[in-house]
Amino acid sequence: MATLATTVDGLKLPNPFVIGSGPPGTNLNVITKAFQEGWGAVIAKTISLDASKVINVTPRYAKLHSAEGEVIGWENIELISDRPFKLWMDEFKKCKDQFPDRVLIASIMEEYKKDAWIEIVEKCQDAGVDGFELNFSCPHGLPERKMGAAMGESPEILCEVVSWVMSAAKKPVWAKMTPNITHIEDPSRAALKHGATGISAINTIRSVMGVNLDTLRPEPCVEGYTTPGGYSSRCVKPIALRMVMEIAQVIRKEFPGRSLSAIGGVETGNDAAEFILLGADTVQVCTGVMKFGYEHVKPMCDQLLAFMEKHKFEKLSDFKGKSLDYFTTHADLVKRQAERKAAQKAATAAKTVKNDAEWRGDDFVKQSQSLASS
Ligand SMILES: Cc1cc2nc3c(=O)[nH]c(=O)nc-3n(C[C@H](O)[C@H](O)[C@H](O)COP(=O)(O)O)c2cc1C
Repeated sequence: MATLATTVDGLKLPNPFVIGSGPPGTNLNVITKAFQEGWGAVIAKTISLDASKVINVTPRYAKLHSAEGEVIGWENIELISDRPFKLWMDEFKKCKDQFPDRVLIASIMEEYKKDAWIEIVEKCQDAGVDGFELNFSCPHGLPERKMGAAMGESPEILCEVVSWVMSAAKKPVWAKMTPNITHIEDPSRAALKHGATGISAINTIRSVMGVNLDTLRPEPCVEGYTTPGGYSSRCVKPIALRMVMEIAQVIRKEFPGRSLSAIGGVETGNDAAEFILLGADTVQVCTGVMKFGYEHVKPMCDQLLAFMEKHKFEKLSDFKGKSLDYFTTHADLVKRQAERKAAQKAATAAKTVKNDAEWRGDDFVKQSQSLASS
């Protein structure tokens, strides 16, 4: 009987479906709902020590619809949590009292100051969280304070911050990467080299959702203006798959044993299967929860189990990274294709009867056809 239960960095999860940092993990009320519905783990909305600097605007989302009206793309200009740090610590404690066996991960972000990073890690640890995700990847708002993606885009800064965190952390630490960079392997490698337990990828892709052709104003429009935001949902999955594959190759070759949490457009069990085949240990879902609700974890688990049963996989590790071997260079694809065509030509030539002694009973029809002109 196949099982979705898995242990990642010592954390025991009933299934690999994790609530990604964002609105679905934004207070105790919704985190409770996530655990009740059976999510494998929750990564809370990103917090910082001083929430008073976080001021959100409305509207802060804009959606892209398919011709059939389905939401396929989602841009947000939402900041990290605007709720007081002290309140969060109380809620983390209450959450762990209520769900001692479930995995609660704090997503944290601070300015480029050693003391601040160490303080936030220690306080969250005291509140009982099971692990950390370092948000090095928010594409809007925070980079102006040298936070979020401003750190993730600079492997040098990232090395320093990860070292600070690792000096204080007693729990697993996942570094969350921005996709808004040419080679996502570089900051991933830097974080792993400085001790991060694992990598999460991807955060949202910097985007402009569109321009209103009546008002000529870009969306989402706040007082007539906008700012580039972060793109998520189904449309980003191919980019996320590519980046997860690239990080998985780095982990496999240079950091065996480190973990990988895949994020980006996951909405189904089959999406999860694809990310796991490319090397992920867990998959995170953020926009999917905003579209379908917390109950959606059940059909996702069912579909992932059905995939495993079809292929006779009993546990996630039976197929983790199994499709990574099928990536190669374009030049190698050309070589493989030329070899296959040459082999085919040789086989056809071998089947052609050159004299009556070569007729064979088992290939008789094919040999007859090879001698026909039409
Ligand atoms: C409205 C919204 C708010 C988000 N806030 C955060 C955040 O506070 N911290 C963070 O690390 N990622 C945040 N994200 C990014 C998600 O965690 C995730 O990396 C991204 O949306 C891609 O996954 P998805 O397609 O499943 O949404 C947010 C995403 C959305 C849509």
